[in-house]
Amino acid sequence: MTEQAAAVPRPGDVERRRDEVPPPTTTPVLQARGIARSFGAVRALRDASLTLRRGEVMALMGDNGAGKSTLVKTLAGVVTPDRGEILVDGAPRRFAGPADALDAGIETVYQDLSLIDSMSAAENVFLGREPLGRGPMSRLLRLVDRRAMAERTQKAVDRIGARLPSLSSHVSSMSGGQRQALAVARATMWGRNIVMLDEPTAALGVTESGHVLEIITALKQQDIAVLMISHNLEHVFRVADRVTVMRQGRTVGELTTAEASSGDIVALITGAAPAAAATES
Ligand SMILES: Nc1ncnc2c1ncn2[C@@H]1O[C@H](COP(=O)(O)OP(=O)(O)OP(=O)(O)O)[C@@H](O)[C@H]1O
Ligand SMILES: [Mg+2]
Repeated sequence: MTEQAAAVPRPGDVERRRDEVPPPTTTPVLQARGIARSFGAVRALRDASLTLRRGEVMALMGDNGAGKSTLVKTLAGVVTPDRGEILVDGAPRRFAGPADALDAGIETVYQDLSLIDSMSAAENVFLGREPLGRGPMSRLLRLVDRRAMAERTQKAVDRIGARLPSLSSHVSSMSGGQRQALAVARATMWGRNIVMLDEPTAALGVTESGHVLEIITALKQQDIAVLMISHNLEHVFRVADRVTVMRQGRTVGELTTAEASSGDIVALITGAAPAAAATES
């Protein structure tokens, strides 16, 4: 192609560039393709797909029961898909359990938060990953370094601007919003590659929601991929780069927030708009 020819815009150029957010050359850090999963007679997932790239925030939207949490659970190794493929950094992976997903650097805040009521905030944050004390006796007796746990938990909680009662009191004494803030703090502390948050602001007030959204943006700036399930369009437009929409167990569209309107998203959620061609099922 001559220089002159290359400089002449051709019809479709603008559309092509719009579609290239983020660039298609980047290998997705996480991909789900054609995932199906039934629970008895309930077909929770029929054909769900999702692509997540490093340094982006992807919102996963859809009506109640659309299959969003189930899809996230398959990516977290909690639910085994009946069919379909999961790829991490382009390589197919089978997660036998949540430990495999954690090993792959995937951290998840579940919709039910998965906190243990009879444990303290710090114990919940470090559950299964407790640091041992430094001294030889601590090593020998496998004594947990409670001070380090408390300090690091406090830092993670401060980062998201949450106010919790004493970190050593039982989680059962916390409010719904405080529990949610703690679960988000835990994920942001451990997430190395990918952080998935299932409705992270559902129980939070305006101020706490604002902090969580800021943290999501900060994770993105650290090149972590963030997947956020949300019903809140305002939050989605504030932090997400793209939106994947699910309906009745299927991925029905993928939009960029820079190009889409709330109406476009709502139409896909409700089925007023036909499934978009952009899905990778
Ligand atoms: N363990 C299970 N056993 C039986 N049915 C299940 C199970 N988990 C999910 N389902 C069903 O699968 C469907 C999808 O559920 P899922 O929780 O993934 O939806 P969702 O999109 O996250 O909804 P919401 O917005 O209400 O959280 C629902 O019909 C639900 O009842
Ligand atoms: Mg859900």
